[in-house]
Amino acid sequence: MSVAKKEFKKVTTHVLQEMKRTGEKISMLTAYDYTMAKIVDNGGIDVILVGDSASNVMHGHETTLPITLSQMIDHAAAVVRAVDRALVVVDLPFGTYQGNSKEALNSAIRIMKESGAHAVKLEGGKEVKESIERILTAGIPVMGHLGLMPQSIYKFGTYNVRAKEEEEADKLIEDALILEKSGCFALVLEKIPANLAEKVSKSVTIPVIGIGAGGGVDGQVLVTHDMMGMTHEFSPRFLRRYLNLYTEMTEAVKHYVSDIKSKDFPNSNEQY
Ligand code: KIV
Repeated sequence: MSVAKKEFKKVTTHVLQEMKRTGEKISMLTAYDYTMAKIVDNGGIDVILVGDSASNVMHGHETTLPITLSQMIDHAAAVVRAVDRALVVVDLPFGTYQGNSKEALNSAIRIMKESGAHAVKLEGGKEVKESIERILTAGIPVMGHLGLMPQSIYKFGTYNVRAKEEEEADKLIEDALILEKSGCFALVLEKIPANLAEKVSKSVTIPVIGIGAGGGVDGQVLVTHDMMGMTHEFSPRFLRRYLNLYTEMTEAVKHYVSDIKSKDFPNSNEQY
C-alpha cells in the first residue's frame, strides 16, 4: 500500500467556514457520475454537489421531483469513488425529508452509509427546521437551500427570480437565520436579487453559495453540464458557459458516423 503523502488538504465543512472568514470564495459544481466527478475534482473544485438536478440532466425528467433516494445514492456512490479532495454534498430528494423528521434522518443516514458522501442538502426554511435538527443529531452535516427551490416548482408556478417583493425577502432572511441557528454548515441561495443575497451573506456566519444570486455571496455553484455547454436549451442570465460541448460532441459523433460509413475507420493502425 502506498504511503505517499497527498499534497492537498481535503475540503471539510470547517475549511469552508474558514474560507468565509478569510474571504476566499468557494467554488462548487455538480457531478452525478465517476468520470465527471474525476474531472471536476482534478480541476480543483471545493465542493461537488450530487444535485437532484440529476433528475433533469441525467434522467430527462421535466422537474427534480421524480428522482428517488436509491437513484441519488447510486449517483453519489459513483462520485465519491472518484473524489480525492472536494467535499461531496448530496441532495435529499423530494419526499424523503419534508414533514417527517424521522424519515429525514433515515434518508440522510442511507445517503451517508451507502454512498460515503460527506454531507446532505435540503430545500426550505422554518418548515424543515425539525428535520435539519434531527439529521444533525446523527452527526451528519446539513447544507440549506433557499430562494428558488425547484422541489416546490408546483407551488411557485415558474422558475422566475424569487424574493423580489419585500414580504418574501423578509421571510428569506428569517429562514436563513433559522437555518444558521439550526446548525446548517452552509446555505445555497438560488435565483434571488443580488442585493438581497449579499445582505443574507452578511447577516449569517455560515458560507452562502449562490446560483443566480450575484457576486456578494461567499461562493458560486453551477450545474456542470450547463457551464460546459453540454445542455443547450437552457440559457438563464446567470449562466456562464465555458465550453460549447453540445455542438462539439455532436460534430464528433457525425464525424465518427461518417468515418465508419466511408470505411475510413478503423484504419490499418487501429486494428490487430
Ligand atoms: O440540484 C442542483 O443542481 C442544485 C443546484 C442548482 C444548487 O440544487
